[in-house]
Order: sequence, then structure tokens, then C-alpha cells
Amino acid sequence: MLNKLFPKKDFTNVNKNLDISAVREFYKTKYGQTLKNWLIYHHKDIVFDKMFWMGVRILKNPMDLWIYQELIYFIKPDIIVEIGSANGGSTMFIANLLDIIGKGEIFSLDISRENYKVKHNRITEFTGDSLSADIVNKVTSLCEGKKVMVIHDADHTEQSVYDNLVAYSGLVSVGSYFIVEDGIIDLFESSEGIGGHSGPLMATLKFLKTVDHFEIDDNCERYHLTYNPKGFLKRIK
Ligand SMILES: C[S@@+](CC[C@H](N)C(=O)[O-])C[C@H]1O[C@@H](n2cnc3c(N)ncnc32)[C@H](O)[C@@H]1O
Repeated sequence: MLNKLFPKKDFTNVNKNLDISAVREFYKTKYGQTLKNWLIYHHKDIVFDKMFWMGVRILKNPMDLWIYQELIYFIKPDIIVEIGSANGGSTMFIANLLDIIGKGEIFSLDISRENYKVKHNRITEFTGDSLSADIVNKVTSLCEGKKVMVIHDADHTEQSVYDNLVAYSGLVSVGSYFIVEDGIIDLFESSEGIGGHSGPLMATLKFLKTVDHFEIDDNCERYHLTYNPKGFLKRIK
């Protein structure tokens, strides 16, 4: 893993003759790319194999993780329900944040533990389809009376995201959030390498037509480069 992130390289004297105009030109070109190009670059070249939290693979946009940190600090939820954990990098990221604020637990829901690598006393695992009655009922009863946040990062098809919104949005406390991840899937063409089908964004817009107690919080998109367009849903009543 270290070799993947920091491949061995012969550093001997390579930086001795750097010329400021060449360096300026190099970064001018790099910074001249569009936000769209950056999203495609990060999606194609980074997120699936060069992104780690404490050595565990995490599939996120770092700008979004900063927003998660802010929300978790200010809301201080008792329980965060993470629907879709994969390797567990995001689960551990949240557990470590909860350690810092000194409270809270995370429920990790995933249909498969094949790649899951983490253990932490703030994490409880629920293995199976997040839409199965068994898991919905267990999680719902444990969340009763608690301050809850929900993050959906599982099956990104429109119907599944919609059904998870219906199944779990009732757990979210007033002032807290349901985060629907990866709405960028809906915004790209499949030829561009990200998604290209109707998914989380469409499900969110459809869900919002049916309720009046959630509002999109665009403040959470202040870094522009989010994977979750219109995906930060704040419960307002
Ligand atoms: C995109 S990955 C999660 C990535 C993780 N949150 C991260 O940021 O590192 C999606 C996960 O959702 C899980 N998943 C897919 N469909 C599911 C379902 N119906 N119920 C529960 N988990 C599901 C998959 O097994 C996979 O591990």
C-alpha cells in the first residue's frame, strides 16, 4: 500500500535545477483544469485504490469528509447509521471522530463483510440487506429516543436509494442530517467514467417531493467539489 501511495523514486539531485518559470507553467496547467476534470480524475485514478483512512481503504471525496467532520462536531449525534461500509475506512473515520468528541456510536450496515477490515468499540455491525425487515426493525428500535444521523453509501440505484430514504429518514433527529452519497452518478455520462445512470440524485429529488420535513442544505457544498450534490438533507421539523 505504501508503494502504491508513495512509489519508490530516485530523488538524487532531481530538484536541484528546478526553474521557477517551468514550475509556474506546470502548476498553471494543472490549476487550469475544470472542476469536472478534477472529479473525473479523482474518481478514475484515486478513490478506488489510492485513498486510505488510517491504512484502510475509504471511498470518499476528501472535501466531503471535511463537511462530515463539521456536522458530527456540531450535531454530536448519539448514533450515526452508515448504510454501506465496504472496507470500513469511512466507518473508522467516523468512529475516530466520535473518539475525539468523546461520545456516540456508529452502526455499520452492509450486505457483505468480504472486504471489511475494521474493529472499534464504537462500531456495531449489522450484516445483511439494509432494506430487510430484520435490519430496519433492529436499527429503528435501537435508535428510538436518540439523536441520529444517517449516511447512505450503498446500492446507488435510484429505487434502492429511494427505498432506503423511506426506510431510514424517520430515524433522523430534527437538526440532524440524512446524507445521500454519490449523486454525481446522475450528473455524468457513462462515457465520462462516473455513473451515467439515474441514481441517488433522482431518488433524493423524488423523495423530497413527498415530504416537508427535510431541506437540502447547500452550505454543505461550499467546497463545490462534492460527490453528494443536493445530498445533504437537513431535518427541519
Ligand atoms: C460504495 S461502498 C461503501 C463505501 C464506504 N462507505 C466508504 O466510503 O469507504 C458500498 C457498500 O454498500 C454495500 N451494499 C450494497 N447494497 C447493499 C444493501 N442492499 N444493503 C446493505 N449494504 C449494501 C456493498 O456491499 C458495499 O460494501
